Amino acid sequence: ISLKPYNTFGIDVLAKHFVTVSNLNELKVVLSLKDFPNKLILGGGSNLLLTKNQEALVIHINLKGITIISEDENSATVKANAGENWHEFVLWCLKHDFGGVENLSLIPGNVGTAPIQNIGAYGVELKDTFVSCEGLSLETNQLKSFSNTDCDFGYRNSIFKQQEKGKYIITSVTFKLTKNKHKLNINYGSITTQLEKMGITKPTIKEVSKAVIAIRKSKLPNPKEIGNSGSFFKNPVISKAHYNTLLENFPEMPSYTISKDKIKIPAGWLIEKAGFKGKRFGNYGVHKKQALVLVNYSNAKGSDILNLSKLIQKTIKRLFNISIEAEVNIL
Ligand code: EPU
Repeated sequence: ISLKPYNTFGIDVLAKHFVTVSNLNELKVVLSLKDFPNKLILGGGSNLLLTKNQEALVIHINLKGITIISEDENSATVKANAGENWHEFVLWCLKHDFGGVENLSLIPGNVGTAPIQNIGAYGVELKDTFVSCEGLSLETNQLKSFSNTDCDFGYRNSIFKQQEKGKYIITSVTFKLTKNKHKLNINYGSITTQLEKMGITKPTIKEVSKAVIAIRKSKLPNPKEIGNSGSFFKNPVISKAHYNTLLENFPEMPSYTISKDKIKIPAGWLIEKAGFKGKRFGNYGVHKKQALVLVNYSNAKGSDILNLSKLIQKTIKRLFNISIEAEVNIL
């Protein structure tokens, strides 16, 4: 079958073998199939660039359900199954007036893949509300629980991208969310400006979500209209010394201090400076409002987009001596 409907980049490659699983037992049965040693786990397909037809058994995780595990006056512990759409989950939290994930509104993808790269936006990361997740071991077919510290979360990083890469299928995630007294994260520049624009001084979590949605819609292409995987690259971290030499040529370069001698540079700025922003190469290109996002206008090949990403990496290396790393998984 074509994987086009299953990846937000909208790349049309074929899967030789494809199965959708809707509960844990089905998943266990599928994992025990000895005829298919190679398996490709597919969640929301939002962090993926498919460059060729897939020979592996593609397992589409469709485990649904959100449950309140426990509640007290100030917090709620909520478990969501892996196949829940992330934004639908955020909306569910807002409906229940549970706070903590409102800044992560409108991020494409599913709950089960959110911990893998510790999704983050507007000053909040998944790890801030994450309690634990359950993963089914591909080796033993047993469930294992991972606490927040077990996951070793970092910027767009976790053990599921490092030592446990490809070893577990995350089946559910448990969150601790706030009730009644919400602590808001609205100091991120663009949120503050957006709330001001909306005339809101004391925002609710629903209003913070609205502000985030408005910002995202103004910059990021809707995958239903233009194929994309959000940020294609991670923002690079460079040394203070390197930063200081770059500042001589580019005094306007934006940056965030990470530590005493580490500075993060927005890759979108570097790519724009290199002249790629809004560049279109036939049916694919670089988004016109956010240079960090590569787009498929229609029927582009994954390999074309991969080559464009390599050209961008090479150019950034040449101009700034900075290596930028892809954030999306290339298959
Ligand atoms: N910038 C440019 N040109 C561009 C894009 C950005 O000059 O084309 C500059 C902006 O002016 C700003 C800075 O870069 O000074 C940062 O831009 P922005 O706030 O848009 O954020 P970002 O660093 O490009 C990151 C995340 C996004 C997340 C936003 C908001 C990564 C790789 N990306 O982007 O995450 O939504 O911050 O928190 O960290 C994603 O991971 O798919 C994603 C969209």
